[in-house]
Amino acid sequence: MSFEFLKNEQRIDFIKKYPQLRIMGNKYRLLDWIGQTLTELDFNTALDGFSGSGCVGYLLKCMGKRVNSNDFLNFSYHIANALIANSDSLINNDELKKIIAFNNKRKHFVTNKFKNIFYNKEDLNFFDNTWANLQTILNPFKRSLIIAALCRASLKKQPRGVFTTITAGNGKYDDGRSDLRKSIQSHFIESIALFNSLIFDTGHNHQATCEDIFEINPSRYDLVYFDPPYVPRSDDNCYTKRYHFLEGLSCYWTGVEILEESVVKKLKKKYTPFSYRKESNQSFRKLFHRFRDSIIILSYSSNGYPDRKELEQLLIEAKGNDNVEVVSMQHTYNFGSHDKVSNERKHVEEYLLIGA
Ligand SMILES: C[S@@+](CC[C@H](N)C(=O)[O-])C[C@H]1O[C@@H](n2cnc3c(N)ncnc32)[C@H](O)[C@@H]1O
Repeated sequence: MSFEFLKNEQRIDFIKKYPQLRIMGNKYRLLDWIGQTLTELDFNTALDGFSGSGCVGYLLKCMGKRVNSNDFLNFSYHIANALIANSDSLINNDELKKIIAFNNKRKHFVTNKFKNIFYNKEDLNFFDNTWANLQTILNPFKRSLIIAALCRASLKKQPRGVFTTITAGNGKYDDGRSDLRKSIQSHFIESIALFNSLIFDTGHNHQATCEDIFEINPSRYDLVYFDPPYVPRSDDNCYTKRYHFLEGLSCYWTGVEILEESVVKKLKKKYTPFSYRKESNQSFRKLFHRFRDSIIILSYSSNGYPDRKELEQLLIEAKGNDNVEVVSMQHTYNFGSHDKVSNERKHVEEYLLIGA
């Protein structure tokens, strides 16, 4: 990716270092195109309403905008709080040593609950131990940085990057990646170093929030970027189902409901109207209406529902005929080698619907 549209060399360095976190539908490989499209527009404040891996919000930060990065999942919130809202809090070497030091007062929740499900005993123990040590860290940005690093470590070591089936000890989904052979601790240490290197101060007060999009005050943004989930073709597109382990890890499973009968100890689904065919049209109408005073950018692709024409029409309802434009590009999604995904779903046309 070139990111030539960014004028300040330093910011180019930052955005180039942002890792591709394996969150379904992430726009990492489209950042250059999204950024180039955004530079054509006049705005200073921006909302990334469905932040996922946080890469678009981080791009906006690198572009010098004041950003609120929002997602209703807690682990996404911590990624954004650590890397976007955070201007200057890093984990130094002494803190890192304390965080990974043996803690004989640790609980054994993860070790017991997730025994033989995704990770070996040493890795499970690392999660319990780190969480116990995290209690000594009070700075909210540092806490988020540690939680985000735990999540990245956990994703890196998980075959296919999803938590839907038992993967511990069976080698079934071993794709040969060296990441699968490293300990969670070594992924964690590497993630802390990487995340430390991404933190910089733009002079703006950025924010991360963990809200349903319809709870966000619409009056504060010149531009809003929306990348909601697609209506699934099967029930396989649910974020809570795929990433329940990260969601639980991000709060040490407090205040969440574990579905005990599920073999991988999933969490109760978080309801979103964007996942249901019957509700999605109305939800887009409501979303566009709510944020009609801002420039609205919607990321969508040809394999999604509703289709482009319907969405364009809904955006015109909110912004008027003359103010809506669509830009597109061809894109190939990288699904894990074990995902049986048709060519139609892999090769898609990506759209940015712009309501200026
Ligand atoms: C397609 S992903 C976003 C990917 C993101 N743009 C990226 O590049 O990583 C959709 C996100 O929407 C979030 N989400 C779904 N329904 C939501 C809602 N009602 N309010 C806020 N966030 C929601 C999901 O948790 C998920 O992270």
